[in-house]
Amino acid sequence: MAAPAEEKYTVEHMLSVHRWTDTLLSFRMSRPAGFRFTPGQFARLGLPSGQGFVWRAYSMVNAVWDDELEFLSIVVPDGEFTSRLSRLSAGDDILLDKRANGFFTLDRFVDGQDLWLLGTGTGLAPYLSILREPSVWSRFDTLTLVHSVRTAAELAYRDEIAALRDHPLWAEHGHKLHYQPVVTRESHPGCLSARLPVLLANGELEQATGRLLTPERARIMICGNPQMVEDTHRQLISMGYRLSRLTAPGQLALENGF
Ligand SMILES: Cc1cc2nc3c(=O)[nH]c(=O)nc-3n(C[C@H](O)[C@H](O)[C@H](O)COP(=O)(O)OP(=O)(O)OC[C@H]3O[C@@H](n4cnc5c(N)ncnc54)[C@H](O)[C@@H]3O)c2cc1C
Ligand SMILES: NC(=O)c1ccc[n+]([C@@H]2O[C@H](COP(=O)([O-])OP(=O)(O)OC[C@H]3O[C@@H](n4cnc5c(N)ncnc54)[C@H](OP(=O)(O)O)[C@@H]3O)[C@@H](O)[C@H]2O)c1
Repeated sequence: MAAPAEEKYTVEHMLSVHRWTDTLLSFRMSRPAGFRFTPGQFARLGLPSGQGFVWRAYSMVNAVWDDELEFLSIVVPDGEFTSRLSRLSAGDDILLDKRANGFFTLDRFVDGQDLWLLGTGTGLAPYLSILREPSVWSRFDTLTLVHSVRTAAELAYRDEIAALRDHPLWAEHGHKLHYQPVVTRESHPGCLSARLPVLLANGELEQATGRLLTPERARIMICGNPQMVEDTHRQLISMGYRLSRLTAPGQLALENGF
């Protein structure tokens, strides 16, 4: 990822790090007053590497009104960015591009009653920010968050997701959220175990959530593993859904999570 010009970033600092597993962590960092974003967008973060910096895209996890920024990160053992990131602790510097980016936002949909948020791995991140936006809770009749990971230990933010249902900002709408975890490489109570395109094709996702998927009502966001995004997109096209574009509104919005 190309580095922004020097005047286009600020030097922020790490506030805290939470480790979910050896390969998955969350961190909070300072947020400059002028940093604005729409839920679903990503920031560009930079760390020193060699003579320069390495920059990577990261979806905001936090609410737009949060005084700090929060991110969920994979740790790739030899990854240029994350091997450095995983060594940081509170007080360390981290660079932030002043401008948030991306089109994976609810502006992509002009209508729809049922919002489905399908994610794998760190593809959960943008949905946490989207679900902290009060207007989402009144705009849709139902909100269904589906998170697919390899092992149950990677089901990050389970307590925070459960707490969303009781948040005072959208209290009367809290019941709309259904959270469906999927664990693909071990069996775990309460979790589905097949990949997302399979769960869509065989009706298991509808059965487990008790919610019908129809192109008339459903608006579906898909984020995470690029192959998953492609396979899930293809499956949904075969079921009558199509990508939502500015010029031709549809039911699907996609984001490759790496
Ligand atoms: C729009 C966008 C948003 C992103 N948001 C996030 C985010 O919120 N959290 C996050 O951890 N990453 C996110 N990424 C990926 C992130 O930018 C980096 O790729 C990641 O931090 C790894 O950086 P690296 O330099 O250590 O390894 P890289 O050299 O960038 O990646 C090495 C390999 O690791 C794997 N990989 C990279 N990222 C991931 C991932 N997130 N999950 C699983 N495997 C991965 C891929 O196989 C990749 O080829 C996003 C990417 C894009 C394009
Ligand atoms: N060392 C470790 O302990 C450890 C642990 C986790 C990850 N990793 C490494 O970290 C990297 C990323 O792992 P990750 O688990 O975060 O991401 P991931 O491989 O994208 O897996 C996350 C979820 O996405 C699913 N998925 C992958 N491809 C799919 C597809 N085409 N269609 C539908 N679902 C799909 C996976 O199911 P499947 O299980 O069916 O693939 C899993 O449920 C990998 O390189 C991995 O080797 C290492």
